[in-house]
Amino acid sequence: MKKGIGREFVEKTKHKYLELSDQQKGLTQPPLIWPRQQVNPTISLPHPGNLPMSPVDLRNLIVQRASLREYSDKPLTLAELSYLLWCTQGIKLIYGHQVTLRTVPSAGARHALETVLLINRVEDLEPGVYRYLPVEHELEVISTQPDLGGRFATACFGQTMLMHCATAFIWVAVSYRMTWRYGERGYRYLYLDAGHVCQNLYLASETIDSGTCAVGAFDDDGMNALLGLDGSESFVIYLATVGKKPPGS
Ligand SMILES: Cc1cc2nc3c(=O)[nH]c(=O)nc-3n(C[C@H](O)[C@H](O)[C@H](O)COP(=O)(O)O)c2cc1C
Repeated sequence: MKKGIGREFVEKTKHKYLELSDQQKGLTQPPLIWPRQQVNPTISLPHPGNLPMSPVDLRNLIVQRASLREYSDKPLTLAELSYLLWCTQGIKLIYGHQVTLRTVPSAGARHALETVLLINRVEDLEPGVYRYLPVEHELEVISTQPDLGGRFATACFGQTMLMHCATAFIWVAVSYRMTWRYGERGYRYLYLDAGHVCQNLYLASETIDSGTCAVGAFDDDGMNALLGLDGSESFVIYLATVGKKPPGS
């Protein structure tokens, strides 16, 4: 890697270097949500508001939060998965043409992230790869090939928690959705947005006796290839494993 490339990114994406964005030039806005593949089956998710919850003390929750890398064999329920998806990308309001307000902030409400799930152990779901459809609050089946967990673990440099977690949330950045408005500076916002999403996953997991571990160490090309992404227009930006806490933790 070229030494100084990170510093160069910070320098060259300073506000003072911004040129007219495609939005300012009047170019058409790209879709704000990936369209669902009409050929794939979909699965309805239970309403996230129906999951029984004990009252939560936010201060305790923040103290309690810690990365969890080992999980019990207990599966997540579909209702719990639905709740985690809502906490990380759930839509609260749609206005105008596909503009959404969600449970997480996003620069300019661009919401340029899509959620893909690796499912290893969730009740009522076959292990596989699924995509979250936030408008419908449904899952779209992408693949149920065997040993996907192993392939994702390899793409994460052998981090076996990808095989042992109940599920992994894989966030895909769709770059032009952000750069259409913000130009090259928009790349900064993609990473900032992903951080907010993952923190919500950490906190929400704690409320259902589960834990999360963020994963930033992955082979970009390997991960993108597993999901059929070109690595430029859309690319894996971040992921996190989730599973039930082991007994006694
Ligand atoms: C951007 C980012 C990337 C991370 N990548 C990994 C990773 O690839 N593997 C891992 O085991 N933990 C990873 N972590 C978790 C950190 O190691 C963990 O947050 C840190 O050790 C502090 O512990 P805590 O989360 O329990 O407070 C990552 C955390 C962040 C925020």
